[in-house]
Amino acid sequence: MAQFLVILALFFFATAVSEAGNACTTGNVLNRPVNGQAIYWPSTWRTNETAPGLEAGQTCSWTVTIPSGYYAKLVISGKMNDNSSYFKTVDTAGNIIKTTHENKEPYYFPSSKFNFIISNVAAATLGFKITWAKFPSALQYSAGIGATPELVNITEGVFAADYSAITGLSLLAFPADPKNYHTLRSTLVFEGKNYDGKYISNLYLLYKSGKQWISSADIIYVVNLEARHRQDQLLVQESGYTKDITQYVEMDCAMNSTCNVSVDGGDKKTAFISVGRKTDVLNYVSINVNSFLTVYYGSQNQHGYHDSISGYDIQSNLPLTFGADIIQYVISSGKASIQYQVNP
Ligand SMILES: *[C@@H]1O[C@H](CO)[C@@H](O)[C@H](O)[C@H]1NC(C)=O
Ligand SMILES: *[C@@H]1O[C@H](CO)[C@@H](O)[C@H](O)[C@H]1NC(C)=O
Ligand SMILES: *[C@@H]1O[C@H](CO)[C@@H](O)[C@H](O)[C@H]1NC(C)=O
Ligand SMILES: *[C@@H]1O[C@H](CO)[C@@H](O)[C@H](O)[C@H]1NC(C)=O
Ligand SMILES: *[C@@H]1O[C@H](CO)[C@@H](O)[C@H](O)[C@H]1NC(C)=O
Repeated sequence: MAQFLVILALFFFATAVSEAGNACTTGNVLNRPVNGQAIYWPSTWRTNETAPGLEAGQTCSWTVTIPSGYYAKLVISGKMNDNSSYFKTVDTAGNIIKTTHENKEPYYFPSSKFNFIISNVAAATLGFKITWAKFPSALQYSAGIGATPELVNITEGVFAADYSAITGLSLLAFPADPKNYHTLRSTLVFEGKNYDGKYISNLYLLYKSGKQWISSADIIYVVNLEARHRQDQLLVQESGYTKDITQYVEMDCAMNSTCNVSVDGGDKKTAFISVGRKTDVLNYVSINVNSFLTVYYGSQNQHGYHDSISGYDIQSNLPLTFGADIIQYVISSGKASIQYQVNP
């Protein structure tokens, strides 16, 4: 009878603990297992199961080491239930992503490590999985970029390339869905000719910054680690043709829709930019009378030059229609806005 009561008590205790959720600690280190298998936390959780409970008031951290030539993939399922709690990752270049809700959309990290940090006040949920894999060994190509820029379907399949340009390189990402662009996390950017170079960031964070990224090296390595089957685009330009454009505003209007874009460059140059096979119809354009709208099919140079119109002449020329894979509308200075329609 006494034995039975002890077992019964243990049973209720275990039930109480599992309802309260898991606890975790700081300073954990996870290395790639020699058998190459995934690591789960909690160890019995699997990604097809709902995220288990996490006790209130936890502060936890894991340092995940990554051997040279490998990357780590992190899949998190979980939700915080108050505003001061968070999931946070820090990559080897110090880039931080902080969130409160994770739905198994993967993160990718290059060597030598990343940190995963959790802090929660209210009870939450958390399960995660880490796998390690090798970088793709082959380069799709090695391309010199000059007057003609290059547009690539970056997350469609596995992709690795290096790009070089005398004055450096400029990158701009164009996600298939500007509201949901987590697939850009699988594309990593390095300065140098391969993954032994200097890791910069992933395309998700470069896009989120709202700016073009300009390399300080004359060669970069861009790798998309897994096929995501998404039509996210990456525009690679020689930065000598983009450096004086202080702000790029992407024209991401859906096909057959009408949208507005605006910019204020002060006394500096800015540009509206659209990519993909389609036609832009500019219905209304507002720029200073003494400014110019110069249109390039490609980069801002002689090779890409298409047309230039002054603010004084533009009203009488509307609507204006342009069609090319890459269109840049460079505004010489001041405030500008465009109402445009995208046609097939
Ligand atoms: C998760 O997958 C495993 C094997 O792949 C299976 O045994 C298990 O029943 C699945 N669990 C759920 C909740 O679907
Ligand atoms: C978080 O903050 C927002 C606004 O500051 C508030 O409306 C919301 O209720 C807060 N949520 C929680 C879970 O405290
Ligand atoms: C991207 O893929 C789509 C569909 O496969 C194709 O129509 C398009 O031309 C590709 N774009 C580039 C820049 O390769
Ligand atoms: C856009 O309109 C054209 C012609 O009206 C139509 O054929 C096409 O399917 C439309 N595309 C989208 C994405 O709505
Ligand atoms: C877009 O711009 C036009 C012309 O300036 C204006 O009439 C319209 O209200 C704007 N639309 C939106 C959605 O802001």
